[in-house]
Amino acid sequence: MKTEPQLTIEDYQFFLEHVNGFVAIDTAGRVTYINKQICDFCRLDHDTAIGKHITELFPFSKMMDTVNFNQSESKTEFYFYEGRFSASTRHPMYKNNKLIGVAEYDIFEDMALVEAFVNHYINLDEELKYFKEESQRLLGAKYTIDTILGRSYTIRNLKEKLRHVARGDSTILITGETGTGKELIAHAIHNLSKRRLRNFIRINAAGIPESLAESELFGYDPGAFTGASKGGKKGKFELADKGSLFIDEINQMPISIQSKLLRVLQEKELDRVGGSKNIPIDVRLIAATNQDLNNLVSKGYFRKDLYYRLNVVEIHVPPLRERREDIPLLIEHFVEQCNNIFGKQVKKIDEAALEILLDYDWPGNVRELQNVIEK
Ligand SMILES: Nc1ncnc2c1ncn2[C@@H]1O[C@H](COP(=O)(O)OP(=O)(O)OP(=O)(O)O)[C@@H](O)[C@H]1O
Ligand SMILES: [Mg+2]
Repeated sequence: MKTEPQLTIEDYQFFLEHVNGFVAIDTAGRVTYINKQICDFCRLDHDTAIGKHITELFPFSKMMDTVNFNQSESKTEFYFYEGRFSASTRHPMYKNNKLIGVAEYDIFEDMALVEAFVNHYINLDEELKYFKEESQRLLGAKYTIDTILGRSYTIRNLKEKLRHVARGDSTILITGETGTGKELIAHAIHNLSKRRLRNFIRINAAGIPESLAESELFGYDPGAFTGASKGGKKGKFELADKGSLFIDEINQMPISIQSKLLRVLQEKELDRVGGSKNIPIDVRLIAATNQDLNNLVSKGYFRKDLYYRLNVVEIHVPPLRERREDIPLLIEHFVEQCNNIFGKQVKKIDEAALEILLDYDWPGNVRELQNVIEK
């Protein structure tokens, strides 16, 4: 038969004396037990401490809160005392369901230890911040809605619309002249969406030769064509899985690729070049064009069905000349940007120069304004 080890009252006392600090009070606040360690630490006389009111010994003690506020759970408080840090945890003591007092034990630590811990935590926090920024940079969507500047009604309205449409999964077509900020907006949409922690993949339809466009977008399987890498390769769609794919200058997409693109958007699955199985994909497509797609459709350069599929939500960015109120703010921003890059201290633009900038038509829009300020 197993016998339970019997602990004597001395054994319990031995334990209580080895806790950093241990105090017990009755419900009137009188000290019923206090260990030697806390007395030595606070330079109190052990024998006269017994029976005193707790606040007489420790004016900041919160032990009576447990009695006064009927706290049935343990509470921890932090103190700094004599250059040391202490954490005190107090418990209500019950006997036959009746509160008979409160016991509190302390953990004192060297400030050096606490400091080391806090520094360690700060370092971790900084590292985390660094990795967050780094992952944002690697994932590619570096602009947010706050990078889109403008006080005009048009821009405020546009930002409102972005906040609204970014939430869903529908395909978004961004239209507008060159330099109006379409790329900026594509980034902002991704960063506003629930996909923001996943990849933001970009591809410019004008930049890829027709012969490569299909494998760039949809990937290829091993041995798909001569020169294909052994293991095959993921296309942009697969890379953007669970994230967003931004196809810039979609108006330049070769017509041969357009039908496959349409199929992928409709079926939500793709087959790689030379592949035999369908791969399911979950991608939010954001497309941009600086030409009127409707016009291209009527000329036969763009598939009508694809145009309708893309144009679920259209975000039109008006040219700068139609929102001149934004010019001063943009100038201020680009001057500041140039000051930072070139180490200059330019504060203001001459009134006469500003007049000219406000009157100009800006065919190259915000990009042109940026270049002019830089010059
Ligand atoms: N509202 C804005 N606030 C701040 N910067 C802007 C704004 N609009 C555009 N820009 C800046 O202007 C430049 C051009 O913008 P962006 O590249 O997005 O234009 P785009 O519409 O994609 O042009 P393109 O059709 O020629 O590709 C970028 O440097 C961008 O950061
Ligand atoms: Mg662009």
